[in-house]
Order: sequence, then structure tokens, then C-alpha cells
Amino acid sequence: MRIHFDEAKKIFEIQTNNTTYLMGLAYDRYLAHAYYGSKLEDTDVQYLLRAPYETEFEKYWFNREKVEKMDSLCHEYSAGGVGDFRDTPLMIRTEGGYHACELVYDSYEIMDGKPALEGLPSTFPSEHGAAKTLEICLKDELLCLKVYLRYSVFEDSDAIIRSVKVVNEGKEKIYLERVLSTCLDMDNEAFSLYTLHGSWARERDITGRPVTEGKHIVASLRGETSHQNHPFMMLTTNGTSQTEGRVYAMNFVYSGNFIAETELNQHGYVRMSMGINPTGFEWVLDPGAAFVTPEVVMVYSDTGLGHMTRTYHDLYRNHLIRSKYLHQKRPILINNWEATYFDFDDDKLVDIAREAHEVGIEMLVMDDGWFGKRNGDNCALGDWFVNEEKIRCGLKKLVERVNAEGLKFGIWFEPEMISPDSDLFREHPDYAIQVPGRTPAMSREQYVLDITRKEVRDCVYGRVKAILESANIEYVKWDMNRPLCDIGSYGLDREHMGEFYHRYVLGLYEMQERLLQDFPNLLLENCSGGGGRFDPGMLYYSPQIWTSDDMDPVMRLGIQEGTALIYPLSTMGAHICVCPNHTTGRVTPIETRANIAMAGTFGYELDITKVSEEDLEKMAACNKLYHRYNEIMREGDYYRIASYRETNYYDAFACVTKDKKECLMTFMNVLYRPNRQSIKLRLAGLAPDAKYRLEETDKVYSGDLLMKAGILVEPPMGDFFSKQYHFVME
Ligand code: GLA
Repeated sequence: MRIHFDEAKKIFEIQTNNTTYLMGLAYDRYLAHAYYGSKLEDTDVQYLLRAPYETEFEKYWFNREKVEKMDSLCHEYSAGGVGDFRDTPLMIRTEGGYHACELVYDSYEIMDGKPALEGLPSTFPSEHGAAKTLEICLKDELLCLKVYLRYSVFEDSDAIIRSVKVVNEGKEKIYLERVLSTCLDMDNEAFSLYTLHGSWARERDITGRPVTEGKHIVASLRGETSHQNHPFMMLTTNGTSQTEGRVYAMNFVYSGNFIAETELNQHGYVRMSMGINPTGFEWVLDPGAAFVTPEVVMVYSDTGLGHMTRTYHDLYRNHLIRSKYLHQKRPILINNWEATYFDFDDDKLVDIAREAHEVGIEMLVMDDGWFGKRNGDNCALGDWFVNEEKIRCGLKKLVERVNAEGLKFGIWFEPEMISPDSDLFREHPDYAIQVPGRTPAMSREQYVLDITRKEVRDCVYGRVKAILESANIEYVKWDMNRPLCDIGSYGLDREHMGEFYHRYVLGLYEMQERLLQDFPNLLLENCSGGGGRFDPGMLYYSPQIWTSDDMDPVMRLGIQEGTALIYPLSTMGAHICVCPNHTTGRVTPIETRANIAMAGTFGYELDITKVSEEDLEKMAACNKLYHRYNEIMREGDYYRIASYRETNYYDAFACVTKDKKECLMTFMNVLYRPNRQSIKLRLAGLAPDAKYRLEETDKVYSGDLLMKAGILVEPPMGDFFSKQYHFVME
């Protein structure tokens, strides 16, 4: 890790272990991007710091052809209105209604460490690696506006973390219409763009297409990251695989509206930009005020997708997730949602706990329906008081009874919501997000609370806190079941209404921070109608997030592959469902459901009091395997071996411990293919010279052989067969 400024050549150099990032001054004024890629020793890139198609002579024509130059330069961060006609990361408006802003290089600072972003989640230095930060100041003289570009790197990582601070040093207000966290201008290397898309119950499907002229935008305007689109994009060169090809990736550490954009311009330059979605956004920057953007994590890999994935996994495990549970085996939980939905009482929960303990389950999570008059999904959100018609013994006693059965106790909340049919709404109708005079559109028969207002946050958080203080509750599932619309707040005036979406996210972060401060031992799992808010921002607060409401193991292959493209397996909430599965109707063997759930936090979501003796025995066996293998999954390096997306019938992935002494491969033959006897799977990440024993057969192979020739698996006839292969170094 090294950050350096060459004063003579005016070149900034950021070095990670395997990558180099270079920028410098063009025309003695503008900060231009020169290079991002594989590590360079020779960084004399002055010749790249200019607009394309420029002869020596034309260089002196800058004033005559400034527009042409501004529009074609590879900017490090440009503002709109002075000739760069691509979508610029910054667009402002003055009190007079003018948009022009010209960012010129001013100064720089190189710091040890990495400043935290106030009120926002951010990566931090840790015992795994120190950090260095480069801050470059650009300014517009006329507006007295300063823009600080921040780049941080960690000793142990190839990621580069970027964010931007805008400071108004003038005497008039500045309206920020668009203020993104990154801009990266590069040559188009016949790139393909990959992003993650989906819907409820099928989140984060990996989707690719060639980069063509014009813009490609992936965005959310739902107030949350969303099931549909994801704040991630990567550009890959032709033939990129797990081990080959160049990959430029960006992931946004934020949980609200975002935009991820690629734009290919007339000169064959690609601009990748990412940040808060400018649609529906405007921020008023008073004189003296500053605005800080959330951060983007950029990763470059010249050895394909696998290195990119492992760089994100390690960065998030080492420098983003704060929870003390990160490196702990999480308790095997059983959640009563798909077991009972709203139809349960205290005795039913205790029955579940008793049976669960028999097979080695360690925690009971009481899901939706325990509060207010909630017997369906149409009422009572906001009334966070125990429903003593259902929990007749009271919450404290219920938790004691569950604890007495040998299980920990967890609880579900949806703190950001309010039902129109709730005492909270009857008392405070203004607490719901709404436009005066217009009935807000419902979703799941509920409204969203206006948590941009402190009194609303205090009220709801106070209720959540009182419940958590009333009993021995060790886990919270924080849910969020609808997107935001009908945007309006009684706490914001006309001029500041454009700040709503961002203030909502800041309010959410503030509430979760309070929860963690007040209950430092709490295990928090975030959730949003399944995986609608699975993002790095939420991982700063919770070490795990519910990946999807879809627990069908076949659907989970794609959902978990897309999620694990960026996020460590230890963050993915994954449970064994009942069969037929409630989302797909599919019937699969319990071992298969278990193997897929073991690639995440592991637990159950079924009525264990109705499970057959045979399945109970299998569950006990699966739980033992979880204890045996969880550390490899949680702490190891993840390798994608084969993808059902590509094979159309089988799937395999493996985790290898950091010391390479153990490898666990999970295989699933989704659909049986006749007249195809065996499948060859090449492992990865092993020590080539070491010998590995396959536990099941005791056969010994060299790491080299396993990686080059692979092993043969012969799935039996029938669909949905799955198996784990455990290799141990001799
Ligand atoms: C969401 C969650 C589910 C469950 C229900 C309860 O859909 O994703 O796991 O908690 O809400 O209403």
C-alpha cells in the first residue's frame, strides 16, 4: 500500500498489493484520470493526461477548443455545465438558477488512517491492515465551492475506497442536484457490463450485456437498495472467467436510492459512475455547510471474477462488519414464520423450542404477529406492545420458558412501518410519509414511518428498546416490507423536501446505531421482504442479512451465487424450509436443503412439531455437520466451481481455509441428465504440492491434480441430489 504525489510531474499514485491507480494534472488545471489496472512500477503517465486526438500544436489551443476538450478528457471527477456533456458526477444550481461549475485542482493531503463518515457506514482500518487516505481538493473559484475527493486503501486489500465531500465556502446557498461518489473514465476494452437484478423471492441474478454507445443505468428509487436492482456493477473484458480476464467493479456502501451508470461516448471512453440516485434528490448546501457522500468500494482484478469476489469478501469481513458475531458460529435458529404465520401462541412456541432442542437447534425466533392486534398483515405496525391474548404468559415469561428448554430467544420487528389500522397511526397520523391532501398508496396494507423526523425515531425506537429491555432477548430480525412513495414530510419545508430520501437512510442508520450502542451483545439480522436491502451499508450494522424469502434450494443457487459474488457467506441468512416449499411448491431432500443453507448462517423455518422421526434424525445429523463445517464456510476463501446458470443442470462451489488445510465443496445435481455418467469438477485454491484426503473415501490426491484434472462425481438418478466433499490436507 502506497500513496504518493510526484510534485514535478504532478501525478498522484495509489498502489495496492496488485493494482495501481494514477491520476494527474491535465493542462495544469484539471484532475485527469490516467490509469487503473494491474500493478505498475513505472508510473510516468504524463503523456496520458490530455484529451484524445491531440497534436502537440493543438495543446495550445485550449481556449479555442475548451468544450471539445472538456467533453473528451478522462476526468477524475467533473461537474456539469462547462462542456463535459456526459452525465457528470456533480451537478449544482446556484441561487440565481445557474448550473455551471468548473472544478480545478487546488491542493492535496495524504493521511495515515481513514476518517469515518459521520452518520454513514464506512470501511475502517483494523488489526488486519492499516489504512492510508489521499484527499484531493478541487474548487470552483467563482462559486467558492470546494470538492474533496477521498481515496483510501488498506494494507491487506486491493480495494480502493472513494467518497466525496462538497463544502460551500461562498456566501450564497448551493443546491446539489447530483453528487455521486465516484466517476471512472477509461478506454472501452470491448467491455461487458454485469449487474445484479431480480424480484421478491429471486434476488440478485447475475445479468450481463455488452457495453454499447449511450448510457446504461441501474438504479433504485424505492428508498431502499431493492430486490430489483443492486448497487453493484462490473465491467469485464472478453472471455472473463473465474480465473482470467480484467474486471473493474464498484459496490456502494449505502442502503437507499442509488444509481450505477456506464456511459460510452463518441471517443470510445467509458464512464462508470456510482452514487446516490439524483432523481428525487436535492440537497441545500448553506454557506459554510458540507455534504459527504457515502462510499464506493472499487476493485480491479486481472485474474478474473474469483479474485474480485475474494477481495470484496475479505474487505467486508476485515474492514466493514463491526459485529462481535462476525467471527463466531451463529446459533442454529428456528424461525416460526413459515411454520405458523400469524397463528401461534406462547404454548406453540414453547412446543417448537422443546422439539428443536432435541435435534440441536439453539435459538427460537418469534417472527411477525406477537404485538398489538396483529393477526394478519393488515394492522398494528407501530404498536410494539406484546399481544397478551397470544403471549398469555407475557414476554418475559415466554423467554424464560424458551430459555428453560435450552434455546436462546430472538424477536422480529418492522420499526420503519406504520399500519393505518394501528393505535400509533390513530394518535399520530402525521408520522406516516405522505403528501398533504393525498391518500398515500398502500403496500402490504401499510405505510412507511417518516423517520427523517427525530420525534418519530425516538417514539418508535423507544418502543423497540422497551421490549428488548423487558426480557432476555438475544437476537433481532429488523424487517422492512415495502418501498417508499408519496414522498412528503411534515418535518421538511419546500426547499428541503429533496433531502427526504437521503435523510430517511440517515435516520435508519441512526436508529440501528442506537440499537447497537444500547444492546452491544445483540445479534442483529437485517431483512427487507427477504433480500430487498442486502447491501454493504446494512452490513456495517448487522453481520447477517436475510438473503431471500425464497428458501427453495434450487432458487437459492442463483440467489446465493449472485449474493456471494460480492458478500461473504457468513453474511447470508439461509434456512431449511418445509416441503413442498411455500414459494415454489418444490419438493427437495432435506440434505439438499441443508447443504445450501449451510452456505449461509443456517437455521430452519418449518413446524418442527410436525416433522417425521426420520427427518428429525436427519436434522440432528445436519446440525452436527453445520458445527463441523461452519468455520470453513464463514472464514474461508470462496471459489465458484460450476454454475447452474451456465451448466443448466448442476452447480458447485467450494470454500478453502486460509491456511489451505481444508476444503469443503458443495455440489448439487439439479436435474438428472440421462446417459451422462459423471461430472468432472476442478477444485481451486488448494496448495498444488500438498496431498489432500477426501474424507468420505480416504482416497488421497495431490492439490495439483484436484485443481487440474478434478474429481469425478456420479450423481444418482433423480433430481435435486446434493453432496458435500470434505478434503483435508495430509
Ligand atoms: C417479510 C420477511 C419474512 C417474514 C415476514 C413477516 O416478508 O422477509 O421473513 O418475517 O416479513 O411478515
